[in-house]
Amino acid sequence: MKTFNNKSELKDYINAQREQGQTIGFVPTMGALHKGHLSLVNFGLEDNSVVVVSVFVNPTQFNNSEDLKKYPRTLDRDVELLQSVSEKKIVVYAPSVNDIYEGKTISEHFTFGGLEHEMEGAFRPGHFDGVGTIVKRLLEIVNPDKAYFGEKDFQQLQIVKKMIELKNIPTEIIGCPIFRANDGLAMSSRNERLNSEYREASPFIYKTLKYAKEKFGTKSAKVVTDWVKKQYKKHPLLELEYFLIADVDTLKPVKRKSTKKTYRAFIAVYANDIRLIDNIALN
Ligand code: PAF
Repeated sequence: MKTFNNKSELKDYINAQREQGQTIGFVPTMGALHKGHLSLVNFGLEDNSVVVVSVFVNPTQFNNSEDLKKYPRTLDRDVELLQSVSEKKIVVYAPSVNDIYEGKTISEHFTFGGLEHEMEGAFRPGHFDGVGTIVKRLLEIVNPDKAYFGEKDFQQLQIVKKMIELKNIPTEIIGCPIFRANDGLAMSSRNERLNSEYREASPFIYKTLKYAKEKFGTKSAKVVTDWVKKQYKKHPLLELEYFLIADVDTLKPVKRKSTKKTYRAFIAVYANDIRLIDNIALN
């Protein structure tokens, strides 16, 4: 499997592929790959001749230095996993911080039409400037036809789509469904850090989301939100950071339900010191 650490070599390789008429798909990741990432790669392989997978723990999107330090780094295993999917059609780009940031590890500042102020933006200051910076840089390097993002980070997906529009980036952004473990826990690289007690407790997150969806059919957003908050107050292990029901286009919390709008419920929960997020389509 071809693995590049250097952006000029990767660009030369991609240009050569393009000259042969190949189409390029792109899956950006921070490594510690799991089945959720592999499902994105498989979507990419269905649509494109070559899929570039970046593996880069982006320092500028972490607002908590402990979280950055503890983020799992498992490049050899990641490459092996990708090899098991396709040796020939997948290319890995695993750059150093310097290859990306060239000595200036700072974020650009972005406005994404207000999407950046909600939920993760409110609880993780600077996070979306970091995400915008790295995704824009990676898209400039890879210049893919299509790039694949998971709906687990739904706010990120909407923000990346907005950035493509605002910056006229010629890549199609494809949102892919959340990949869940059999017990419903959304796949995340952070799950690996859960001890058995917290791992057993965490499917509760998806359970509450499913109940919330059911209740939202007949009840107001406020009633559903209060109900969810109450469930977490009673829970011995999981601590709710936020739960809210928002319009998918603006990501603003719903005040009054409208049949013309599409809603999703979003949640962030601490399992010990591990922050887990999830969401569900409501209508
Ligand atoms: O979703 C992620 O893993 C990251 O935010 C991304 C898109 C790879 C940017 O670092």
